[in-house]
Amino acid sequence: MNFFHNYKFVETHGCASLHYFNNMKTTKKRLLRAGNMLNPTPVVMVSCGSTLEEYNIITIAWTGTIGSDPATCYISVRPSRHSYDIIKRNGCFVINLVNKELAPIADWCGVKSGKDYHKFLETGLTPIHAQQVDAPMIEEAPVNIECKVTQIIPMGSHDMFIAEVVAVHAQEALFNRKTDALELQRANLVTYSHGHYYDLGKMFGKFGFSVEKKK
Ligand SMILES: Cc1cc2nc3c(=O)[nH]c(=O)nc-3n(C[C@H](O)[C@H](O)[C@H](O)COP(=O)(O)O)c2cc1C
Repeated sequence: MNFFHNYKFVETHGCASLHYFNNMKTTKKRLLRAGNMLNPTPVVMVSCGSTLEEYNIITIAWTGTIGSDPATCYISVRPSRHSYDIIKRNGCFVINLVNKELAPIADWCGVKSGKDYHKFLETGLTPIHAQQVDAPMIEEAPVNIECKVTQIIPMGSHDMFIAEVVAVHAQEALFNRKTDALELQRANLVTYSHGHYYDLGKMFGKFGFSVEKKK
């Protein structure tokens, strides 16, 4: 299996062998500042707060999955954010996935601070009691992920909140009526890349498609 059989060096040297790497060249790419370039990232609305007055929403792109058993994820938050102290004090938060419809609100929650606005009141989003944590979920979001903070790791500009996923909620409309399978592709989720929001475009393969036997 060689996915790059059209590449010149394989054409001239024949089939693959480590020997062909002996004359490795230097890259022709431009060297950039060693900054964050891991793209695309998720973009989510993180809700937090234990009282109606305290409820807040922060938009987060620096988030990700860590492990599956226990289900573990992280969010990286600058200590200057209004949400930072709330999440630290309560030890929990909810990750709300963002679809295209919610993207303008997510962007707004990412440029305005809870110091100046009550973001639920301003946006009209509906806070719902979470089941396992002391934080609101956003009813309009297609999926809510309840998280309990297990570690806070200072990482310089941001602190990394590592959290265990303790409950997940998904809109009924996302389930196949016949099979009851979750069809997340129906959620119209958005992603974030180098300062821009995108929808997910067309599905072109599934897990393991590279080794699947063609019918
Ligand atoms: C797309 C996007 C992604 C963002 N990602 C992060 C992030 O990962 N961590 C962070 O601390 N701030 C991030 N921000 C900035 C905060 O969302 C923003 O400062 C917000 O106003 C903080 O709200 P708060 O002060 O009410 O907590 C992001 C903003 C946007 C628009």
